[in-house]
Order: sequence, then C-alpha cells, then structure tokens
Amino acid sequence: MAAKAARRPSASKKPVLVLNGPNLNMLGKRQPEIYGRETLADVEKACRAEAARLGLGVEFAQSNHEGVLVDLIQAAREKNSAIVINAGAYTHTSVALLDALNAAELPAVEVHLSNIYKREAFRHHSYISPAAVGVIAGLGSQGYLLALQALARLLARSSFSAILDETKLGEIEMADGERRIRVARPTAASAAPIALAPAAVAASAAAPSILAPAAAPSDAAKHPGAVKSPMVGTVYLSPEPGKPVFVNVGDKVAAGQTLLIIEAMKTFNPIKATKAGTIAQVLIENARPVEFGEVLMIVE
Ligand code: DQA
Repeated sequence: MAAKAARRPSASKKPVLVLNGPNLNMLGKRQPEIYGRETLADVEKACRAEAARLGLGVEFAQSNHEGVLVDLIQAAREKNSAIVINAGAYTHTSVALLDALNAAELPAVEVHLSNIYKREAFRHHSYISPAAVGVIAGLGSQGYLLALQALARLLARSSFSAILDETKLGEIEMADGERRIRVARPTAASAAPIALAPAAVAASAAAPSILAPAAAPSDAAKHPGAVKSPMVGTVYLSPEPGKPVFVNVGDKVAAGQTLLIIEAMKTFNPIKATKAGTIAQVLIENARPVEFGEVLMIVE
C-alpha cells in the first residue's frame, strides 16, 4: 500500500550553508592565475542558481575570522541541512573547524578552487577532511556546484529513508509541485533495490538527478552469498577511524560475526554474516553512501 505524503522531506527545507573562509572575499583580484577571475559574488550567484535548480535553499557566508566560522558551523546544526565549506587557509591549520564540523553532525563537502595537491606541501594536508563526506579540489567554482549536487542526492536519500522509517510503510508517494515520486523499500525477503520511479505525471525537464531510478542490480546481487545493505546509509569497514577493518578478502567468518557498520539516521548498525564462510569479495569502500539492497560483500 502506498501512502501519499504531499510534502517535501523536512531536512531538505533547511538551507544548505555555503561557507567561505579567509581571503575568499578577495576572489577575482587575488592571484587570478590560481583562483580565476570570478568574484565571490559570482560564485554566490552560481550557487544560488544551482541550488534553485536542485530544489535546495542556500545560505552563503564568508568570514576572515576562525571564530566566526566556528559560530556559523555551530548554528548550522539547527539552521541548515548540510554544509559546503571552502575553509581557505584554515583548512590546513584549524582543529577548531574540524571539531565544529564534527559537532554539527551534518553532511559536509569540502571544496577548494585550486588543486591543493599540485601546490605547496603545506596545502596537502586538510584538518577538516575527516569531517567531510567528500572533497572537491581543482575544479574552480564548478566544485561548489558539484558539492551542491552531491548534497541534494544525499539529503533526498536520507529524507526518503526517514519518512519510510517514521511511517513504517513499505511504499510512499510524494508530490512536489508537478512532480510525483513513489518510493518503495524492499521487504526483508525480497531485498530488491529501492525504486525511485517517477509516477504517471511527467517529471519536469528540470527534474534533478536525485529522481533518477536506482541502478539495475548487478550480477553480484544474484550471488547466493551476497550480503546486501538492509538500509540507506554510510558504510564503515572498521569500528573506528584508523582501526583495522572488520574483515578482509580471504578471512573466514562465523555466522553472526560483524562484517561492517552502516550509519543511518545517526545510528551505527552492525551488519553481520548470516552464515559461516570466507569473504570472497568486498564491493564497497569505506565511508561511502549505500542504497537499499546494494551488495556489500560476497561470503562463500
Ligand atoms: C583554497 C586553497 C587554500 O590552500 C588557500 O589557503 C585558500 C583557497 C582554494 O579554494 O583553493 O585560501 O581553499
């Protein structure tokens, strides 16, 4: 049974914070051979246009002061759904920004206009990357737009999953203006991938990529030893950052042994082997988003 939900998921109603650190107010004048001729106002304009296309709100801010950036990230925990951050030089120095991003518990994408890995060695290390879902560097202002696209997908995915969890329904249909989306979750028995199919009403030409149907199941999905994701979330292959992974290819595992963790809705869910065997394949990377029914590992 499909339930009708004529509202957008609540998290995506909060704007995405696009935050810029020191000296980014000088864009256009500052080392144009590295940072280009676009001004920060141009970047803001492009972000607003892209956010509108994606159906996201956006808040754009810049500060030369570390404490002000910390305050904005702290406030984002309540006010914003996600963060795009170009922390400028604080990227390479600021534990305070890393702590603030971790405390905000929001998906964040780190952006750099320049390719920091092609530049001086001191720019090769980022203190804030461990708190980011992804990092984009070297693509100029396009990096901000790509970050917004990635966050739109991520927010849609977690909102859909939140609504399914809230309602305990297997399938819901959402209407957003002219667009309708039916979202179904597999039953434990079917473990089919989530289907995001536009319903009879034609999707508008500007429909964002978040409405694309999920990828067709691969051959791995048909394998009898396929361990499939029972939820949408983020995969962690080790119990803590820097700790060894739970299992490697070739390891023997017992039934009930933890293979990995999936974080969903701020909860860490251990994914356990349902039978004893040997890990034949690990098909996902650490800290990657996963879909319902996506194959994580093969146990033979
Ligand atoms: C930057 C790279 C940083 O190393 C530098 O300090 C900046 C800008 C970039 O966008 O390429 O201010 O973050």
